[in-house]
Amino acid sequence: MTRDTVILHRLVGIPQDDPRYVEAIRIAAAALDKGGLVAFPTETVYGLGARIDRDEALRSIFRVKGRPADNPLIVHVAGIEAARQVCREWPEAAEQAARAFWPGPITLVLPRAGHVSDLVTGGLDTVAVRVPAQRVAYDLVKTAGPLAAPSANRSGRPSPTEAGHVLADLGQAIEVLLDDGPCTVGVESTVLDLTQSPPTILRPGGISREDLERVLGPVAAPGEGPELARSPGTRYRHYAPSVPVDVVRGDNLDDLRGKLLQRIRELVAGGRRVGLLAAQELAGLEGISRYVSLGPYGRPGEAAARLFAGLRELDRSGVDVIVSHTYPPGGIGAAINDRILRAAGNTGGDSHRKQR
Ligand code: TXA
Ligand code: MG
Repeated sequence: MTRDTVILHRLVGIPQDDPRYVEAIRIAAAALDKGGLVAFPTETVYGLGARIDRDEALRSIFRVKGRPADNPLIVHVAGIEAARQVCREWPEAAEQAARAFWPGPITLVLPRAGHVSDLVTGGLDTVAVRVPAQRVAYDLVKTAGPLAAPSANRSGRPSPTEAGHVLADLGQAIEVLLDDGPCTVGVESTVLDLTQSPPTILRPGGISREDLERVLGPVAAPGEGPELARSPGTRYRHYAPSVPVDVVRGDNLDDLRGKLLQRIRELVAGGRRVGLLAAQELAGLEGISRYVSLGPYGRPGEAAARLFAGLRELDRSGVDVIVSHTYPPGGIGAAINDRILRAAGNTGGDSHRKQR
């Protein structure tokens, strides 16, 4: 469906009890009820929502994103009770994780209830579910009911962390866009498979492995679990701008500075205009044409929040290649490294496949 207009509600700075806020949520819920698509902010990235009981709307999610049909969607709900209704089983680990981290950036994969559409689960026997913390997302699912919502980007592009990113990718396809400013976490939720033992991280994200292990005991990281312990979505190329991304690996500033200088020198010698997406201590390296800051190296949470917007900004800036770097792998660093390496075309799991 191509539309001429999208209804944009700018909610930044408007209190939740203000009639304009309440009305925006009501209009969005009505559009969803009629089978429309609504883009809304979450604490991680903007989502493209459809009601889980509107098959036509679910189909259009895949169409407008250009998303493969076998890549299932996350169901967003407003609490543990609502989550249990889309699951066939609710093990103790689900209760513990939900109590510790919901509302928040973690998605639980559990056996699906029979009424959940195959369009949501991609035909799997499991369903992914989470309770978002962002106020607009939470209020919307509370009003409209459970929403299936992938990130609101064209498939393969960097995820949207601002309303402008959603408009740039999908403006033609959505009925209502709720704008509540930039997302605070900036990388997607952690996807945790609770149908396996130990619980297995399928996608690193906003809640770290260390945080999970404090509550659940040992948790397997991506690639450590059984062969099929991957989210279907992680098989596809992801998060990629239209220009190539070149990532330098290292876990301290001195090491990174030397490797980045070397890489930039080579690229410039080859006639390329280089955009650098890096911690602020690495600004001003010789040879770069554009620079976007990921904030202080010691604050990876800030880097996560700036990452996707930075990729998009450099992509638009006319450079030939974007050079970036990894972070120390603990905490949110695991999610940053996963996204930046995928943006560079590394689909992950390579070392895992080689073992076979
Ligand atoms: O933070 C987030 O999770 C955002 C916001 C909007 O909530 N959503 C998001 O959705 O990132 P999406 O569709 O871009 O990514 C969902 C990931 C995919 O990798 C998908 O394969 C995986 O979750 N997934 C969904 N259902 C699954 C299932 N039943 N089993 C395993 N993986 C599943
Ligand atoms: Mg996505």
